[in-house]
Amino acid sequence: MLIAGNWKMFKGAHEARMFSTRIRNLPSRVHGVDVVVCPPFASLQGALQGLGSDSAVHVYAQSVHWELEGAFTGEVSAPMLLEIGVTGAIVGHSERRQLFAETDETVRRRAEAALEAGLAVIACVGETEAEREAGETEAVLSRQVSFVPRHERLVIAYEPVWAIGTGRTASPETVQEAHAFVRTLHQAPILYGGSVKPENAGAILALADVDGALVGGASLDPTSFEAICVAAGEAVAA
Ligand code: PGA
Repeated sequence: MLIAGNWKMFKGAHEARMFSTRIRNLPSRVHGVDVVVCPPFASLQGALQGLGSDSAVHVYAQSVHWELEGAFTGEVSAPMLLEIGVTGAIVGHSERRQLFAETDETVRRRAEAALEAGLAVIACVGETEAEREAGETEAVLSRQVSFVPRHERLVIAYEPVWAIGTGRTASPETVQEAHAFVRTLHQAPILYGGSVKPENAGAILALADVDGALVGGASLDPTSFEAICVAAGEAVAA
C-alpha cells in the first residue's frame, strides 16, 4: 500500500521542513504502508531536511525531464533529483496534461528516463468528465496506459479528472470498475486519486484493486494526511 501526498504548488521550503519533521516517524505507526510526499521543486530539500537521514518517508518530485541536462529552461532532470535524495517522481498528472501541454508521448519519455536513472515513478491516467459522459473512459485509459512503461519501480495512479480538487470523489463502484479495467492493461500497483479525504479513505482503500492513494488537498494538512495513512494501515491489516 502506498500513500503519496501531492502538494502541487503549495508549501515553500520552510513549511515543507515543518510538515516533514512532524511526519518523519509516521511509517512506524502504519505498517505495510509506504509514505511519500511530493513537494514543489523549490521545497524538496526543505522536506528532506525535515525528515532527516533516518526517516522511511520518501520524497518525490512532481515531474521530471527526460534529458540528463541541456537547454530546457524550467525543467529538472532525474540525476539532479537523485543527487539531493529525491527517490521518485510523479509524471503525467492531469494538471500537467491540461495546463502545460503534457502529452502521452512526453509522459512516456519522462517515465522511461526517470526509471532508467533509478527513480520510482507514479504515472497518472484518468478521463475527463466529457470523456466519461461520451462513454470513452475505457478507450482513454487504454490509450494513456499504453504509453506507461512496465517496471518494478512504476506505479499507476488512476485519477478521474472530474474528481480532482472538486470534492466529488468517484463512488467506490466507479473506482473499483476503473481499477479492475486498468489491471487488465498493466501489472503495476494502482493508486486512486481524486478528493481522497480521511472520511472516504477507508472505503476506497479497502477496494480489491486499489493499492493506495495519491492525495492532493487533504495531504496539505498533517493531521488529515496522517489520518489517511492510518486508514491505509488499517486496510492492510484487514
Ligand atoms: P485532490 O487532488 O485530492 O485535491 O483531488 C488529487 C491529485 O490531483 O493528485
